[in-house]
Amino acid sequence: MTALTGTLLYRGDPERGALWAQCLQRAAPQITFRQWPQAGLPQDVCPQEVRWLAVWQPPADFAAQFPNLRLVFSLGAGVDHFDLAALPAGLPLIRMTEAGLAAAMADYVTLAVLALHRDFIRYGAQQRRAEWQEHRVVPAAGRRVGIMGLGRLGQAALERLRPFGFPLAGWSRTPRALDGIETFAGEAGRAAFLARTDILVCLLPLTPETRGLIDDRLLAGLPRGAALVNAGRGAHLDQPALLAALDAGHIRAAVLDVTEPEPLPPDHPFWRHPAVWLTPHIATQTDPEAAVRQVLEAIARHEAGLPVEGRVDPARGY
Ligand code: NAP
Ligand code: GLV
Repeated sequence: MTALTGTLLYRGDPERGALWAQCLQRAAPQITFRQWPQAGLPQDVCPQEVRWLAVWQPPADFAAQFPNLRLVFSLGAGVDHFDLAALPAGLPLIRMTEAGLAAAMADYVTLAVLALHRDFIRYGAQQRRAEWQEHRVVPAAGRRVGIMGLGRLGQAALERLRPFGFPLAGWSRTPRALDGIETFAGEAGRAAFLARTDILVCLLPLTPETRGLIDDRLLAGLPRGAALVNAGRGAHLDQPALLAALDAGHIRAAVLDVTEPEPLPPDHPFWRHPAVWLTPHIATQTDPEAAVRQVLEAIARHEAGLPVEGRVDPARGY
């Protein structure tokens, strides 16, 4: 795909890094792959040779450390772990957009929405109390699902939910038109979006505008008995506000894939709350083989002076 030579330095989960190494070796053997160990740079990495950096947690001074960087890749779809203000102008940051990420997120959101729709969290809590108690089955047409964030992941989740017959809606920063889906945008559209949403799913990026967005005001804007799925970032959620809304019965249950911090401390009330399902940030994951394909495509396009898929706009924050 590219005849370019140079070093791609990877800093992330070492097991997945080993898969990156194999995939890159097969697809572009002329690119040198190095994993950045926790303790420091590998001995055999010459900083001047590092042209591409693929990282989850970037070190603060990476641009100074590697003066010949051409592209920086986030190992995930999100880029909130980067200090975007410190990114040198002209050094593109590329996030992962490979199709598997959206497909697995659509699985997760569908599972969570169906579990909430069919009261599985409540039945799980009842089972632990040896309690046999039925609840009314609500038809899908009577359960309105709303997704905050109409990007790659939000749209994929809506498409996957479509056949179930839930009335679907989405909320984004700028107006979006999606066939058969009610859409709302910005501050002006938020209250109406929340008021028509029985199961709220957060698939937003974490930016200064969205940090702490799921607070007591937002939750109060949902109909009584609504449910929440947060698969965006833990810092989107004001945790005491959710606990208060759960305890007051305003929110009936929550599925949380992301928390702040991760993991939560052992005594955090979410761990044992009967109306909370927690998963350890596994809603979706980048597939190493597809990620390497995306990286090689990005390198080739960037070298050819073409626009690169997944390029982050530092001013927008995502
Ligand atoms: P994306 O394609 O960039 O889409 C982001 C969406 O959020 C866009 O529709 C955007 O609006 C909207 N948005 C941004 N700021 C907003 C605001 N202030 N108000 C309203 N809407 C706003 O992102 P993506 O690939 O779908 O990923 C979304 C997020 O999912 C990631 O950033 C990450 O936080 C999270 N994630 C979680 C996991 C997990 O395993 N739990 C895995 C991957 C990603 P516009 O359409 O107007 O631009
Ligand atoms: C994971 O959370 C990601 O951003 O890909």
